[in-house]
Amino acid sequence: MSCFLICGAVFVVAAYFYHEIIVKGKRCTSTVKLHGKTVIITGSNTGIGKRTAVDLAKRGARVIMACRSRERGEAAMLDVKTESGSSDVVFMPLDLASLKSVRSFAENFLKSESRLDILINNAGLLCEGRTDDGFGMMFGVNHLGHFLLTNLLLPRLKESAPSRVVTVSSVAHNFGHIDFDCLNKHKTLGLGSTMNKYSASKLCNVLFTHELNKRLQGTNVSCFSLHPGAISSEFDRNVNRTLVMLITPLSLFFFKTPEQGCQTTLHCALQPGLEPLSGRYFSNCTVRNLFAKARDDAAAKKLWELSESMSGLQ
Ligand SMILES: NC(=O)c1ccc[n+]([C@@H]2O[C@H](COP(=O)([O-])OP(=O)(O)OC[C@H]3O[C@@H](n4cnc5c(N)ncnc54)[C@H](OP(=O)(O)O)[C@@H]3O)[C@@H](O)[C@H]2O)c1
Ligand SMILES: *[C@@H]1O[C@H](CO)[C@@H](O)[C@H](O)[C@H]1NC(C)=O
Ligand SMILES: *[C@@H]1O[C@H](CO)[C@@H](O)[C@H](O)[C@H]1NC(C)=O
Ligand SMILES: *[C@@H]1O[C@H](CO)[C@@H](O)[C@H](O)[C@H]1NC(C)=O
Repeated sequence: MSCFLICGAVFVVAAYFYHEIIVKGKRCTSTVKLHGKTVIITGSNTGIGKRTAVDLAKRGARVIMACRSRERGEAAMLDVKTESGSSDVVFMPLDLASLKSVRSFAENFLKSESRLDILINNAGLLCEGRTDDGFGMMFGVNHLGHFLLTNLLLPRLKESAPSRVVTVSSVAHNFGHIDFDCLNKHKTLGLGSTMNKYSASKLCNVLFTHELNKRLQGTNVSCFSLHPGAISSEFDRNVNRTLVMLITPLSLFFFKTPEQGCQTTLHCALQPGLEPLSGRYFSNCTVRNLFAKARDDAAAKKLWELSESMSGLQ
């Protein structure tokens, strides 16, 4: 009986420390203030994007919440204002599933804002379908929309240097494979499972950052990609509800809250002295080594050039 109690107690204590240390993970320790600086966060009406917005607003930044739904975006903007105590928070419509919307967002932004210090490419989804321009949804939103957005905003980032581009990828990129033939033929990352296409889109995020860094040499604009951790957010909204219900008890223990999940984004956006690591990939607020396919120079260049023609940049 007493052995049973002791074992139980040891288990509870171990679980507690596992959760406190491993699951919650490292926190961004930067105390940098951002008065006079402007940041854009895509998909910031919920999840880790919204928590990122609250943190950066608290630091004094002018926060542009770039979201696709006016209703959800404006409601979230009010929450971010309340929670941060800052009134310098703005909603601007951006639907990454429409290249036209990306262009009009960039046009509005460049017309009305004189600087851009931090661009956070955070929006992402896990679902099937096609964008307005006929691209596979995950390729179009997770990669191509952000590719065009970043390129259109680069002049302002360069003028505001030192500045940063932070792209939220995922550890899932390790399972990704970019099928260029399929991209050319079907405008999508594959014809197989949703998870395969998602992983490939997250590999695009890492390769995009790799190539962007090369093109930014000498500009004092640095760029990073990252895995935020496994997070309880709305990200599973398109996943089978039965499956989500089964996972919920586990995810409550093993997943981060959105506030914990935004720490690596904050680290990449704020930590002083990260510039020599530009182009690299982070998780748990730490720079990580990538497998060869995620730092493949030829694939990154090919993806960049294809994205230029697909997004109408060239
Ligand atoms: N959750 C995880 O465990 C996890 C793990 C690894 C990586 N990530 C990455 O982390 C990022 C944020 O995910 P999250 O967990 O915070 O998910 P989330 O709660 O679902 O938030 C995703 C955000 O992206 C926005 N979005 C989706 N499609 C868009 C579009 N066409 N145009 C503009 N915005 C769009 C959503 O807007 P609406 O509300 O209007 O749909 C929402 O604001 C994603 O890039 C995801 O791939 C998440
Ligand atoms: C995150 O970093 C902390 C501190 O270094 C470490 O204790 C923890 O195990 C790490 N978590 C993961 C998931 O790597
Ligand atoms: C980049 O920053 C360095 C150090 O602050 C500065 O000397 C240099 O002129 C900057 N270069 C550009 C292109 O802004
Ligand atoms: C979810 O998955 C289960 C088991 O695979 C299946 O029986 C069920 O029909 C699915 N539910 C929905 C809403 O798709």
